[in-house]
Amino acid sequence: MKRLLITGATGQIGSELTIALRRAYGEANVIAAGHRRQPDADLVQSGPYCTIDVRDADCLQEAVRRYRIDTIFHLASVLSAVAEQKPQLAWEINMGGLHKVLEAARQFGCAVFFPSSIGVFGPGTPLENTPQVTVQRPNTIYGITKLAGELLCDYYHHRFGVDIRGLRLPGLISYKTPPGGGTTDYAVEIFYGALTEGRYCCFLKGNTRLDMMYMPDAIRAVMVLMEAGGKNLIHRNAYNVTAMSFTPEELAAQIRRSIPDFTMDYDVDPVRQAIADSWPRYMDDSTARAEWGWEPHFDIVATTREMLAHLAVKLARQKEDHNVTP
Ligand code: SER
Repeated sequence: MKRLLITGATGQIGSELTIALRRAYGEANVIAAGHRRQPDADLVQSGPYCTIDVRDADCLQEAVRRYRIDTIFHLASVLSAVAEQKPQLAWEINMGGLHKVLEAARQFGCAVFFPSSIGVFGPGTPLENTPQVTVQRPNTIYGITKLAGELLCDYYHHRFGVDIRGLRLPGLISYKTPPGGGTTDYAVEIFYGALTEGRYCCFLKGNTRLDMMYMPDAIRAVMVLMEAGGKNLIHRNAYNVTAMSFTPEELAAQIRRSIPDFTMDYDVDPVRQAIADSWPRYMDDSTARAEWGWEPHFDIVATTREMLAHLAVKLARQKEDHNVTP
């Protein structure tokens, strides 16, 4: 990996992965691509930035050619809850975008990272200790695009020899950029609520157990997988990876250890609850551990401690900036 392109660079994963990759591979060698005209200042100040709509094959190929890209991290995607509201758009971006990225990779000889998801599982899947290889019959458009994406990645690897690697990521918890409309977003919003108002209204039932991961673990997983020797990667396009598994009640209890007066109530969203109920409670990620050495560093205790500390600093800074703005 020498010249890297990141689609969806302004999103929850992209905004942190871009900075980590720039640190590792050199700022000028990591090209961030987003669809927003106004990306975060640190993204544009720390290296090249361009605007790409992943549905536009010409624009994508032009960027790959112009920047002499050899590896594409394809993060641009519509998340599960928004996808249920806009299924046509989700198909166009999640499937159409991936197909165009894979075509560019085939034509220009690039490697690809593809973020799959716990959303590829659904009714019929064993939801406890969900195996690497099992029933996959998702009934959300998000899950369908991610599962079809896994299969398309397999096809491009076997048929054209494209080096594609992917992870089935769980809910990601981070303080830098909020997620853009997923089912697991409560596990980020709860920290904002706890620090700003001392309360949070949760859209999932209190006993809904889902897999989760703190962002630094996810960034490390992506980077280690992409640097791993290719010949051990039998399940290369879609590794189950997880770091912890908890319910909203358990996360609230953990937050109360630092903010004793924190309260949580519920206004359950039936759409997101149905999605969550169809996803694994906890996945078996032993295949990722065996094939490329996956190992998480952050559990619920460490994640809660880090989130409260970092988010408190960020919110205080935002408040200061707001106060000095005329
Ligand atoms: N966090 C994602 C979502 O909730 C799952 O991949 O949509």
